[in-house]
Amino acid sequence: RLSPTGCPVSANAAAFDPFTGPYQQDPPSSLRWSRDEEPVFYSPKLGYWVVTRYEDVKAVFRDNITFSPANALEKITPFGDEANAVLAKYDYAMDRTLVNEDEPAHMPRRRALMEPFTPPALAHHEPMVRRLVREHVDRFINNGRAELVDEMLYEVPLTVALHFLGVPEEDHETLRRYSVAHTLNTWGRPAPEEQVAIAENVGKFWQYAGKILDKMREDPSGPGWMQYGIRLQPEMPDIITDSYLHSMMMAGIVAAHETTALAATNAIKLLLEHRTLWEEICDDPNLIPNTVEECLRFSGSIIAWRRVATKDTKIGDVEIPKGGKLLIVNTSANHDERFFDNPDELDIRRENASDHLSFGYGAHQCMGKNLARMEIQIFLEELTTRLPHLELVPDQEFTYLPNTSFRGPQQLWVQWDPAKNPERTNP
Ligand code: HEM
Repeated sequence: RLSPTGCPVSANAAAFDPFTGPYQQDPPSSLRWSRDEEPVFYSPKLGYWVVTRYEDVKAVFRDNITFSPANALEKITPFGDEANAVLAKYDYAMDRTLVNEDEPAHMPRRRALMEPFTPPALAHHEPMVRRLVREHVDRFINNGRAELVDEMLYEVPLTVALHFLGVPEEDHETLRRYSVAHTLNTWGRPAPEEQVAIAENVGKFWQYAGKILDKMREDPSGPGWMQYGIRLQPEMPDIITDSYLHSMMMAGIVAAHETTALAATNAIKLLLEHRTLWEEICDDPNLIPNTVEECLRFSGSIIAWRRVATKDTKIGDVEIPKGGKLLIVNTSANHDERFFDNPDELDIRRENASDHLSFGYGAHQCMGKNLARMEIQIFLEELTTRLPHLELVPDQEFTYLPNTSFRGPQQLWVQWDPAKNPERTNP
């Protein structure tokens, strides 16, 4: 087999399949061979060039002119005619938001919309996040057993996301169905018979986003980020376009919510699997901020992202043709021993933990990173204070939604002895 540049494809590269097997189980380990032997390779099954070393992934993120983000929200698996007809029925037209917008359009839009993400603006959200987390913990603290995704980790980031965006509280189950459909639509490989159901939900999600937007336009005075954009539109109609607002209304719900829910689930799972570290943060909460960074490094919730080459170029000594699509595997970069010492060790005191690439890098680096960090920190602060004796239910199997990019266990069962709750023993 040959790559599009005519070079032969190695056996490992030919076998690479991110939708099943080792990549689903343990993505960074599944690509160790690549980091060691073939850090940029062409995957015939995917039709993408895969980039796995830290320096290369960072360089691709950094150069958003040579490596355009235009394909970031494109379907990684083209749909068949029937599913496409369903999307057309809903006038589905997801287009440029921020994450997939090219320069020179991107930067003025990003700047115009940045203020609600600044630390003083985010500080307003903290009491609400803490209250929500406390209320959820109150509901299960006496039960001795909980499935944390269902009982807290999904719902809290969703509520925070809707609040941040300014979207009225919606039926959570419906939005969960929509978000799963969006992930599989964009980053999955659904079989033809699954595609139609996914397209139905994606189409409904799109229409729902449109309706919310219409309603907001009637009264854009609210404090949300979307209303902020609507109010700016008359001043800068070429920068804040209608298409931007509709696309962002849908993509924003996923960006602000699913990412954070999955990252929090990954972090709690990891720490409970490394019990002594959990105990250390119970004893010293000052360790929590760096622990959050280390968990994002070790097991982030966006594990791979996409770019497309705008001209013939090279990564290392591998030639990438103009139009070549790239899967840049940031979780692999985060486990690159060329950059991180003992990368497969979870080290909550790691000095360069925050150099991870889980939020991307450069012009498009995640705008919501500090909101996400705040949420994960508060989850850890509340759980380590109120349930320090929390442990994983043994022998549970962790399952993941099969896709290239969004990663976190679908369920996380924990248990504890309520008689030993600090609030009872030391009220
Ligand atoms: C962009 C990850 C939470 C809003 C991104 C990118 C990644 C990412 C990988 C693309 C970066 C690049 O291309 O260089 C994450 C992770 C999160 C998270 C892992 C949680 C742990 C959030 C939250 C919000 C948000 C809570 C909103 C409230 C955005 C926006 C962009 C973005 C608006 C586009 C920025 C641009 O293109 O200029 N995020 N994100 N994210 N994220 Fe996040």
